[in-house]
Amino acid sequence: MNALYRQIRNWLDERFGTGSVEEFLRHKTVPIHRHTLWYYFGGMTLFLFVVQVLTGILLLLYYRPTPEDAFESVQYIVTQVRFGWLIRSVHSWSANLMVLTAFIHMFSVYFLKAYRKPRELTWISGMILLFVVMGFGFSGYLLPWNTLAFFATKVGTEMAGAVPFAGKWMLTFLRGGEEVTGATLTRFFGFHVAVLPGLATVLLAMHLLLVQRLGMSVPPSVEQATAEGRQAPRVMPFFPNFLLRDIIGWYAALGVLGALAAVFPWELGAKADPFAAAPAGIRPEWYFLFMFQTLKLLPAKILFLEGELAGLVGFSLAGAVWVAVPFLDYRAGFGRVTRFFTGLGIFALGFIVVMSALALR
Ligand code: HEM
Repeated sequence: MNALYRQIRNWLDERFGTGSVEEFLRHKTVPIHRHTLWYYFGGMTLFLFVVQVLTGILLLLYYRPTPEDAFESVQYIVTQVRFGWLIRSVHSWSANLMVLTAFIHMFSVYFLKAYRKPRELTWISGMILLFVVMGFGFSGYLLPWNTLAFFATKVGTEMAGAVPFAGKWMLTFLRGGEEVTGATLTRFFGFHVAVLPGLATVLLAMHLLLVQRLGMSVPPSVEQATAEGRQAPRVMPFFPNFLLRDIIGWYAALGVLGALAAVFPWELGAKADPFAAAPAGIRPEWYFLFMFQTLKLLPAKILFLEGELAGLVGFSLAGAVWVAVPFLDYRAGFGRVTRFFTGLGIFALGFIVVMSALALR
């Protein structure tokens, strides 16, 4: 056993410079400054991801992914299975909190300019993780096969279908045909419990190894204050100081999750009827609302393009710029911080908040 441990340790160390667990725990430190609070959000997202995996496995013991059985199996979970209602509610609430903490984590690393050289790949792996997290939300939403989920999936996949060139293919790929049917449910189930978890595991391993290899970044304002001697560089050991603080946060999050699940149990609604008319007020999950609202507000025609199409092209371009930020703002890597990228971040955050609020009105 010892020899195997040593072999694995050496293999990891040679390739990734991880060292032994003891060394890792002894040497890893976390900088202390007035923005340290933001370092907790990556770990919080990770904790909620673990909650998702554990509660998801428990739900799998009873869930059945067919249009005939899906709704009934979830109904069975929340009414007959002991604590099934709690597990389902925690899974749904934790999914939403995880998207929220992932967004907070993304914006905090953006404003603290943690994407600067040499952390470009940490940023990119994080961005892909965010898309994966949103994919988990989108695919999981359909699984209970209730009315709201059915029509929201119809609208969501229609949007994918409006994308130029690849749209038709994407729609058929997502739906498993022309319409939202049992084939779509089978596919979404496959994405949700196999494809996305696999992708997330590989990406997370990469993300965390990079964080471990490169250490925690220090924001430019603190770097400057330290260089000018206005502030002494301060750090705390990761183990046990930072980890214990992390654990306090996770414990509090568990309390919040339990309380939310008990006080506001997740609704199931009515079983989907593909032949019924779409009920009024169909909208996607809150984290897609800003896109949904923007597309709704756009005029029917923008220049020579259809409004919705122009909106989708705009979002694709904006997403590409956001992923490429470490390269576009490469000067920040040499200590030359420009106001432009901070302004861009404020604009993006403001846009998302205002559009989501408008959609919720
Ligand atoms: C499932 C989603 C994610 C998980 C579980 C996760 C986890 C973590 C953890 C544990 C850390 C170290 C502590 C911290 O800085 O908070 C970290 C750092 C980092 N993450 Fe994430 N992350 C996720 C998504 C993202 C996203 C969406 C981005 C941005 C596009 C991102 C970019 C970064 C960067 C640049 C760092 C380095 C921060 C620094 O050195 O100061 N991550 N992540």
